[in-house]
Amino acid sequence: MERFEFLGTNGDFVLHDADKDPGTYFPLVNAAGMMSSITPTLAGDCKTGQNTYLLAPASAETLHESRATRNFWLGFEDGTLWSTTGQSAAQRCATGEKSTVYGGLLWHKLLRESPARGVSAEITSLVPATADTVELMRVTVRNTGSAPLCVTPTAAIPLYGRSADNIRDHRHVTSLLQRLCVAEDGVTLTPTLTFDERGHKPGHTVYTVRGREENGAAPVRFLGTVQDFAGAGGYDWPDALRGSAAWLKAGDTAAGYEMAAVLQFAPRTIAPGTGYSWFLALGIDADASAYLAPDAFSKALEDTRRYWQDVGAAKFTSGNVARDAWMRWVAIQPMLRRICGCSFLPHHDYGRGGRGWRDLWQDSLALILSDPAATRQDLVRYFAGVRADGTNATIIGSAPGEFLADRNNIVRVWMDHGFWPLLTMDLYIQQSGDLDVLLEQQPWFCDNRKHRGELLAENPAVHTLQLDGETVKSSVLEHLIAQNVTACFDAGVHGNIRLRGADWNDALDMAADGGESVAFTAAYAGNLHTLARLCRDLGAAGHPEVTIGAALADLLLTKAGTPDQRNAARQAYEAVCEQRPGGTTQMLAADAADALDALGAALADHLRANELVTDGGSQCWMNSYYDNNGCRVEGVHGSTVRMMLTGQVFALLSGTANEDQVDAISRAADWYLDSPLRGGYCLNTDFGSEIPPLGRQFGFAYGHKENGAVFCHMAVMYAAALYSRRRADAGWHVLRELLDQSMNFDASRIYPGIPEYFDPRGRGMYPYLTGAGSWLMLCMLNNCYGVRGQNGDLLLDPQLVPDQFDTNGTAAVTCRFAEREWEIHFHNPARYAASEFRVAETRLDAHTYGNVIPRSALLAAKDDRIDVILCAR
Ligand code: G1P
Repeated sequence: MERFEFLGTNGDFVLHDADKDPGTYFPLVNAAGMMSSITPTLAGDCKTGQNTYLLAPASAETLHESRATRNFWLGFEDGTLWSTTGQSAAQRCATGEKSTVYGGLLWHKLLRESPARGVSAEITSLVPATADTVELMRVTVRNTGSAPLCVTPTAAIPLYGRSADNIRDHRHVTSLLQRLCVAEDGVTLTPTLTFDERGHKPGHTVYTVRGREENGAAPVRFLGTVQDFAGAGGYDWPDALRGSAAWLKAGDTAAGYEMAAVLQFAPRTIAPGTGYSWFLALGIDADASAYLAPDAFSKALEDTRRYWQDVGAAKFTSGNVARDAWMRWVAIQPMLRRICGCSFLPHHDYGRGGRGWRDLWQDSLALILSDPAATRQDLVRYFAGVRADGTNATIIGSAPGEFLADRNNIVRVWMDHGFWPLLTMDLYIQQSGDLDVLLEQQPWFCDNRKHRGELLAENPAVHTLQLDGETVKSSVLEHLIAQNVTACFDAGVHGNIRLRGADWNDALDMAADGGESVAFTAAYAGNLHTLARLCRDLGAAGHPEVTIGAALADLLLTKAGTPDQRNAARQAYEAVCEQRPGGTTQMLAADAADALDALGAALADHLRANELVTDGGSQCWMNSYYDNNGCRVEGVHGSTVRMMLTGQVFALLSGTANEDQVDAISRAADWYLDSPLRGGYCLNTDFGSEIPPLGRQFGFAYGHKENGAVFCHMAVMYAAALYSRRRADAGWHVLRELLDQSMNFDASRIYPGIPEYFDPRGRGMYPYLTGAGSWLMLCMLNNCYGVRGQNGDLLLDPQLVPDQFDTNGTAAVTCRFAEREWEIHFHNPARYAASEFRVAETRLDAHTYGNVIPRSALLAAKDDRIDVILCAR
């Protein structure tokens, strides 16, 4: 028997012997902002934000260390105790109990069986897909023996009830603020103050735990403090359940201690072969009592399951049922990151919420695939975070127009930030056909950071650029031009764009002076051509002229020149950009496009001429970086060969590498970076002990995180880059290794979904909240299945490999396009390889088309099924 198995294709799974993996978890969340995580012993936390944790913040280590977890105890007539979650001192050493986790989108069920006691318990947990910030539990106890079973049930939920900061900042003093009240069906906790060094504010947050039996009966007695419950025995052998305790009743209070919601129910006799249920609800500022009836719970469970089934951008059908089921979890990952950001799951115990610039744009990719129209307003709004000098605020708050220069108030410019918005906007435009979005007007962000972070000025009173007391507004197109063109004029001595604070790789953060990112120089070169295409499309769509700031137009028309000339032109622009001298100018869209193309071509020529490196033998690839001393990072260094993946990805994706170079790069990556036992293509080779002055990543042990792990985000982008150059077999090889590793539970030790990276032992790390989720959906749908927009029309350009078709040679995907859901079936009965087939025709209603179906035909169609017939080239 496999320990992990999918049960069908909708993502439901079973994990046997779940106790063996106490650190495995998945999130239970809702769009209202309830964020829980849950393990096989029901460890994990529950909160609505950095300052409102109901259960104490969990890090990866606390998942198996802490005994302060959700628990539901049964007291037996003989005076013995049994934890339905397995969290008791006695059960930790006990053998003969079985623990099984059943899981799905997004519900969790723990089944614990004790044949010796003749009892089993099933605990179903979820955060309902409603507007309520609650987490629900249903505990069903079954008598699996032959005699009546009499049990006294006690729910014990530790109540942390404050800010994550207080774990190490006044943990005890903040416990003095705790005030607990007992109600009829549970307890509420409201701290009198929120207390930290920044100020004291009245506490308003109400944390609550409520419970009822299936017959509606409320608990019969309560405890409120950890001391009164756990005593000397601790959470996993609580004194209160083994002797006497000072029990509370409705109306009683407790104050000034660490709190726990302890709800004891009346003893219950369960006949052999039958079961009985108790319902619990944990809430933060929510009416938790509303969910305690059996019907209310069942409805919440069904609605929640249905809700998450519909969240993903696409449902894939291939020849492999397990892979299709696994992709259902990947499909919801972008939504999980939208809710949790990069904080709030056990491995993501950093940050304080808010959403980072780069991640925000990439997470939008998958959201655009689901429903471009719903993302439009947000996308446009994000441009108000761009400064006139082309840099941007790095943190975006949840309220419209809320931007922060940096979470930690550090002056830092990530040189890749200007790259991502165009990628996302182009996807939006192609999927929707809405070219006019480029003409939407937005302000410019304005704060004390000027000249690409090199000058700190006075903080302005208003955080938008003002001229003569008026907010300056410009088109989205002008914001995009500013971001991409100013970056290209930020030259290092070797002619590549300066690395500054870091690029995509956050851990390359120690080369701000001399560092250059060759990788993102290629990326920006590609962007300039994309922008040129969009300008031409605007011209063709009846906008022959584009309006941009006169100074920006001057910069755009400047010839690339030497690094010094480029920097001088940029600095001249930076000195005046906020005054907008000359106001705006009208440029022919065609002229703007030519200038953008010329600049992009100059950069790409430079890269092809100067940045290819070899291993001294037959392998050749693109250098990715210069370090702080201005030394080239890749190639042969002593006895080591240094190669990094990032440079290869963008050389391919941007079109910079020519066809021969694409093949050379793919061969070199196979040779130096592919590590099948770890999940595939790692970020870099082992640089050994003589490390370049480049960034903190080289402080990490080799194979971990940014220092050479199989970093899924970049690996998936590598696959997408290979597909973009029509190397389907190579692209699928990259994806397959990632999929196989993730799905091999014995190695990856993660529930379904793509993690941020695989460590040197092949274990999945930082599950769920990773940009790899969005990119994998994008790559699977747009590249593998080849379903993508082309100025609003539907292009069907599959690059599926035989492995992705079933035995009849069919593959299918259900996805949304042109505001409708489609079932698209691909027919390849002869099972041709991707390089051997072409689209013979596509069929919709009674009509046939080539590989593009006009949007008008889609909008008018009666049927929602499209057939794509493949034939030999
Ligand atoms: C994380 C960050 C992302 C960054 C990457 C590499 O990746 O979220 O912004 O570019 O590390 O440092 P993710 O977790 O999204 O895969």
